[in-house]
Amino acid sequence: MCGVFGYVGARDPLQVCLTGLSALEYRGYDSTGIAGISQGKISFCKKAGKLSELKKVLSFPPLELAIAHTRWATHGKVNDQNAHPHFDASHSIAVIHNGIIENFSALREELLREKALLASETDTEIVAHLIAKYYKGDLVRALHSAMQRLKGAFSLLVIHKDHPGELVATARDCPLSVALDAVRTEGIVSSDPNVFFGTNFDVIFLKASEIACVRKGSVDVVDSELRKITKKSERIAGSFTVPSKEGFEHYMLKEIYEQPITIQKAFLGRYARGVSFEELSLQDAVFRNTSKICIIGCGTSSHAGSIGALFLEEFAGVFTSCEIASEARYRPLLLSPDTLVIAISQSGETADTLAALHEAKKRGCTTLGLCNVKNSALVREADGALLLQAGPEMSVCSTKAFTSQLTTLFLFSLFMGQIKKTLTQERLLLLQEELKTIPAQIEQVINRAPEIQRLAKKYARHENFFFMGRRYMFPTCLEAALKLKEISYVNANGYPAGELKHGPIALLDAHFPVIAFCANRQTEEKILSNVMEVKARGAPVLAIASDHFKQIQKAADDVFYIPDSSDSLAPFASTVVGQLFAYYIAKERGCEIDQPRNLAKSVTVE
Ligand code: G6P
Repeated sequence: MCGVFGYVGARDPLQVCLTGLSALEYRGYDSTGIAGISQGKISFCKKAGKLSELKKVLSFPPLELAIAHTRWATHGKVNDQNAHPHFDASHSIAVIHNGIIENFSALREELLREKALLASETDTEIVAHLIAKYYKGDLVRALHSAMQRLKGAFSLLVIHKDHPGELVATARDCPLSVALDAVRTEGIVSSDPNVFFGTNFDVIFLKASEIACVRKGSVDVVDSELRKITKKSERIAGSFTVPSKEGFEHYMLKEIYEQPITIQKAFLGRYARGVSFEELSLQDAVFRNTSKICIIGCGTSSHAGSIGALFLEEFAGVFTSCEIASEARYRPLLLSPDTLVIAISQSGETADTLAALHEAKKRGCTTLGLCNVKNSALVREADGALLLQAGPEMSVCSTKAFTSQLTTLFLFSLFMGQIKKTLTQERLLLLQEELKTIPAQIEQVINRAPEIQRLAKKYARHENFFFMGRRYMFPTCLEAALKLKEISYVNANGYPAGELKHGPIALLDAHFPVIAFCANRQTEEKILSNVMEVKARGAPVLAIASDHFKQIQKAADDVFYIPDSSDSLAPFASTVVGQLFAYYIAKERGCEIDQPRNLAKSVTVE
């Protein structure tokens, strides 16, 4: 995680870097810092806490260029000393960094033996000292020598007081892009290829330990052997604007309310009498020959994947498993050449998902990315990609991206059903028609937000929750439990309802509420029994159930009814109830909602 940004050019480097930091803050907000060069000296300012804290202490002379960093702590506590940038002993070199230097302990010991004075606990500072050790007037060469000593996946941005016009950047298995404006008056380095400010930019993506020396309007790149190379650039509109909450108290609430629209964006234009994806470059034959599907992702994206696996089995008749990306990559039989691997990621930059994608490619699998960010590593590296089109998601806690992932997976499973001929035309049309009703269903739930807020108030004092569900409602309840954990800091565990009696039920008492996700017709009688079992142990129960399922009222303490739908589409409305429930509990408990402690929106370390 961490956001790396740098600017050299005609505009005020400090102001451009501050805008860069605010746009990259989603990558971590433990601390922020800026360093720049002014009259042959490095000036800097860094502070623990969010960007607003840095702004309170900001003071710089006019800068010739600047680098800026927003941190998600890996090595060393969250404090001012560990905030980036980090420096060599003589304060000639400043370094900012994203990723992990895996052999940091050995290098730190080596430097300490050489009597280096280290000011922080970070792995980043080691890099600054190593570069200084190898520096003989050429910053690119010095960084290259230091790189030979470093293990891990990371990106680095370095400046030197004697090179006032140069940003020197490198990346190894970690996103970092360099942009030159169309009229060649500036150079920008950014962890996020969508965070460049101006009109049009020609962007190159650094990889495999390439090193770029970026100046006003020009860039020289060398490969890992220090050979000069020419990299192909992509024209990207730099029209990034920092999004607004548009009157909502939090981005999370705004994004929950956007879902009727974002779901439509995910399906509009993708079906008529059948499903098709304009941007999909893979041939139908690939899908026809697919005998097994493995979906990979992390966090919320993996929950969408678990529901997607049920869609694919139901509509396309293909064995599908959904695996946590960081685990899947180590299982050889899971990723065999006959497998279609679907990697799901809102950001397209999650390190574990990308590592699993690379592993799948190595093992000969066809890969398909589902992503919300069009220039992301996932979209560039997967064999084919489907875009969610949900627009930027600012809240760390993912909401609208999840329902767009569900919509895209639902359509993709119908598409597979067409190709595999497991769906009749009649059923296909019925399913498409039903999908069209989902935005209105969500609208109905959102219109009843005050009811959910009342329920949240009632349950907000509890510290422990079980979420349970069966079939489609099991991954749905996992996602709802994750929302509550992320933003309310209460212990919330999702379980398949049938599993509760195999251990977890021992925990239940009057202080341990159970949120029962019941909107799955196929298993209604079973979940009713599970609710009775839980009630018999004195636990309070809030049920989220389909409109017709009135029997649940006798068993549960509270019921929130959602519109009836077929089982496969019930995750949509149920999820929105879970999102609003978590939101209002967090609000009731006075938690920071959009940027919860210890989390980051994009997790670029494994
Ligand atoms: C982080 C975020 C989660 C997100 C997960 C996967 O943990 O806090 O909200 O679900 O990363 O992110 P991705 O961008 O790959 O969907």
